[in-house]
Amino acid sequence: MTIVGTGILLVVFCTLPGFGNACGPSEYKSAAGECCPMCSVGSIVRSDCSGDLSTTCKPCPSGTFMNNPNGLHNCFPCRNCAEDHGLYIKSKCTTMQDSICDVLDDHYCIEFLNQQCSRAIRHSVCKAGQETKTQGTKTTDTVCVDCTHGFYSPSGLKCIKWLNCTALNEMQTEDGSSVKDVTCRPTRGRYGLLCGVTLVGVTMFFISLCWFQPNNSNGQANLNVQHPIQETISSSTPEKINEQRNI
Ligand SMILES: *[C@@H]1O[C@H](CO)[C@@H](O)[C@H](O)[C@H]1NC(C)=O
Repeated sequence: MTIVGTGILLVVFCTLPGFGNACGPSEYKSAAGECCPMCSVGSIVRSDCSGDLSTTCKPCPSGTFMNNPNGLHNCFPCRNCAEDHGLYIKSKCTTMQDSICDVLDDHYCIEFLNQQCSRAIRHSVCKAGQETKTQGTKTTDTVCVDCTHGFYSPSGLKCIKWLNCTALNEMQTEDGSSVKDVTCRPTRGRYGLLCGVTLVGVTMFFISLCWFQPNNSNGQANLNVQHPIQETISSSTPEKINEQRNI
């Protein structure tokens, strides 16, 4: 087929009624095949043009929009920024523009529709024994890592180094784990031991002193300690009672 032949063929096709976009850029082809003026943004066709009558338009009802000049009979439904889909309305729907949804705080998108997020879920929270390696974003989940040996994280927030009992000059009483710190206890040092021994000695001394303390001026052993009732019964005179009180 020659170039001239192709050209003729194209001309024939393009002039056939109903082929291609025979109407102007701001026109649409009605059901009756007429080129009608489009309705503007925010509205749709109420009735097609016909003869001398131009197109009549009507605004989009609430909850719908139309963002282009058009020859359509229905508006598009507004996007629903549902909270249970992890979304919120960033920009409200108007008759001329769809709503713009955004991902809620602490959520990330898991489903996209026409390059927009249609569903988001909450970021993972790191468990005990872990910490956050990377904070979640609107499109990525939190990345958690296990605490390395020698560190613990009771709440999953941050891995903290175990106590070093040796460095604290203390004794380790319990091992640490990934969720629990090491437990240390102060050891009784040299001075502590000395104090303890002294205290015991002094106490013993005073106990022995009390035990063998004389009952009265006669230097008799004090039997009150062992037989207080007997002693009270036998000594009934006021003088003796006073004597005892003075001890
Ligand atoms: C604890 O501290 C001691 C003395 O400061 C040091 O020699 C030892 O390596 C430390 N141990 C750990 C597990 O950090």
